[in-house]
Amino acid sequence: MSNNPNDSVSYSDWQPTIRPRRLRNSPWIRNLISEHRVTVNDLIWPVFIQEGNNTRTPIASMPGVERLSIDLLILAVKEARDLGIPAIALFPATPTKLKTPDGEESFNPENLVCRTIRAIKAAVPDIGIICDVALDPYTTHGQDGLVRNGIVVNDETVKVLCKQAIVQARAGCDVIAPSDMMDGRVGAIRKALDAAGFSHVAILSYAAKYASAFYGPFRDAVGSANNLGKSDKKTYQMDPSNSSEALREVALDIAEGADMVMVKPGMPYLDVVARVKDAFKVPTFVYQVSGEYAMLCAAAANGWLDREKVILECLLSFKRAGADGVLTYFAVEAAKLLKVR
Ligand code: PBG
Repeated sequence: MSNNPNDSVSYSDWQPTIRPRRLRNSPWIRNLISEHRVTVNDLIWPVFIQEGNNTRTPIASMPGVERLSIDLLILAVKEARDLGIPAIALFPATPTKLKTPDGEESFNPENLVCRTIRAIKAAVPDIGIICDVALDPYTTHGQDGLVRNGIVVNDETVKVLCKQAIVQARAGCDVIAPSDMMDGRVGAIRKALDAAGFSHVAILSYAAKYASAFYGPFRDAVGSANNLGKSDKKTYQMDPSNSSEALREVALDIAEGADMVMVKPGMPYLDVVARVKDAFKVPTFVYQVSGEYAMLCAAAANGWLDREKVILECLLSFKRAGADGVLTYFAVEAAKLLKVR
């Protein structure tokens, strides 16, 4: 015996009583009942910076994305601001000669990131600046922390991360975003910022950051792929098989003072976004990472997917999962698409 009430009727006069399609009949009613929406206010644009004047370097594995010198970046950031994008996230390509085993360039107040922050604050003061805190752009081994006897050490790394956060805050960074996944770093950075007079600077922690193969193109962009070689980051970034552990990481970061949290990567981890938002109700962000960008671009370039439609559908999926905002390399393109609609 079936439980389906439809099975008891004769099919000649059969019709359903409840018809969800009634609410899909035309655009006005679909708009009326839509539960989630992407707006330009949800977009954070990650950008890559390089040394030089009037120079740009395309990133082969991220078609359409370029590393820009500060002067060109300022023009790009002005466009983003004019489109209504609320914030950018800065990622430097450190010249090889400045990379060291312990990544001292990370806390040089004159490093590329700090000079960029000051230049953007002077030229485009009304856009938010988010800065990554981690040592991988600065180390010769490409790890996010200090390496001692082949191990990425935690507590000694955290001290350097605090110094990195302070030079960024002093340069004018609005939001410090630790992406290193060392234990206890959010609490330590919060204390260090407060002690240095930066209690107004917020922390967006990469709380649930997975050891993902989707970061490959990013490592080309910042030039850390060769440094890292065949090594991985599995002793500090999370195991992709875990999601309850993500809740524990988020709980710790909130307890340590994180104002906002992030899940990363995005699309393969929407379940984690949903669990985090349900459990904590704090501002939750998701990073649509370089590999996700590369996949969509490749499929669109082959004519296999409709580029504009999949961009907007992916962004919507992040919102539906519970994200308050998305870091996406599509930010400028998406902002333009949203404007047209
Ligand atoms: C650095 C960092 C990474 C990303 C953001 N910050 C790479 C990594 O952890 O190896 C990845 C972003 C992307 O793939 O778009 N700690």
